Amino acid sequence: MKSDTTAPYAPRVILITGASGGIGAELAHHYAAPGRTLLLWGRNGQKLADLAAQCRSMGASVQTRQVDLCDGQAALNAYRADDAASTPDLVILGAGLSDIQTPDTTTEDPEKVLQLAQVNYSTPVALATAAAQGMAQRGGGRIALFGSVAAFYELPFAASYSSSKSGLAFFAKAAGLGWRQHEIAVTLLAPGFVDTPMSQRLEGPRPFLVSPKKAARLCARAIERKLPVYVFPWPFRVLEVLTRLVPQSLRERILLGLAVGQKDRA
Ligand SMILES: NC(=O)c1ccc[n+]([C@@H]2O[C@H](COP(=O)([O-])OP(=O)(O)OC[C@H]3O[C@@H](n4cnc5c(N)ncnc54)[C@H](OP(=O)(O)O)[C@@H]3O)[C@@H](O)[C@H]2O)c1
Repeated sequence: MKSDTTAPYAPRVILITGASGGIGAELAHHYAAPGRTLLLWGRNGQKLADLAAQCRSMGASVQTRQVDLCDGQAALNAYRADDAASTPDLVILGAGLSDIQTPDTTTEDPEKVLQLAQVNYSTPVALATAAAQGMAQRGGGRIALFGSVAAFYELPFAASYSSSKSGLAFFAKAAGLGWRQHEIAVTLLAPGFVDTPMSQRLEGPRPFLVSPKKAARLCARAIERKLPVYVFPWPFRVLEVLTRLVPQSLRERILLGLAVGQKDRA
């Protein structure tokens, strides 16, 4: 589908994973409008039902799906069913898991590490690929993946989280390049701290905190502008450049000195 570059971007069918979460729900609100279909994925059925009711009251047509992204094959099957029935032209892969190692343990919990790898990397990468197959046949589309500024840093207390997001960022760059010829735009969204349940569990400062509503607005604008990578809020873009200039030994001392904890260990 060749887009009219002068018309405002108006996706017709949008699939959002992590729609039951802080940023995903705000994105659903942002896009809810008459004439638009939202396919909202999450695990929490009650949250999905409440969100669907809100989006319907804003005029959107809504379908919900309870999917556990730890089961990558089930997620792929579900995606293919939604793709065949509704042909999404924008897919936002927002679901994510985070975890922080406690100081009294030698490593992260291996089972949690496996879940993190599936929810943050393996399944979104597979879903993005399935989405691209369908979109390529239809002449194009847009795919957004949620990374994190954590991807820029080898966080010793969150090795699995920072590396899952780093891998996802690399995938987004490579796939975006590969799929450009099929009119598919890939955007990697890399937030700093957004005030959602995920960051509310952190013990420690959350500098430059952004509301979920503002995050959704910024992300939608980045998708509209087809930005390959969008890091927000802007101080994290500056920080990333500055930290690249720091010698490795000092970088390691700083990273090892960071004191970050987590409440409500799931
Ligand atoms: N908040 C931040 O400060 C921040 C910073 C950097 C990056 N991010 C990234 O932004 C994205 C959205 O985060 P958020 O802040 O909105 O987090 P959130 O409020 O904790 O929501 C997380 C979402 O992921 C879904 N999810 C988690 N595990 C899942 C699984 N196994 N299967 C299916 N869905 C699963 C949750 O579904 P249920 O609730 O239904 O279980 C929920 O919808 C994530 O990818 C996150 O890593 C967030």
